[in-house]
Amino acid sequence: MLVCSCNYITDHEIREVINELLDQDCWQLIVPAKVYHAMEKRGRCCGCFPNVVDIIIQTTEEYHARHDSTDAEIFDFMSRLREFHEENRRADIERRQKSHRAA
Ligand code: FES
Repeated sequence: MLVCSCNYITDHEIREVINELLDQDCWQLIVPAKVYHAMEKRGRCCGCFPNVVDIIIQTTEEYHARHDSTDAEIFDFMSRLREFHEENRRADIERRQKSHRAA
């Protein structure tokens, strides 16, 4: 499924990169910019980023379920990952509202 129409990136390609990044360091914080940088792409309109975040969370959860991570480690990491992305989403919405008001 096409996720990023600006760069023609599919969900399969995004999942592959996320798994490669997790193979390097399974506890690293992965954000859309890091995924796109690894693919030598960059966000243009960034409209796909919320979907990329959902894919990051799902893929990370699946990755840890397949590996030796304990339930406590997974729960703690996934909670922090979701919280981080949720804070970013809220900050992004606030930024858009402020720039809309200023215009
Ligand atoms: S849809 Fe991905 S950058 Fe525009």
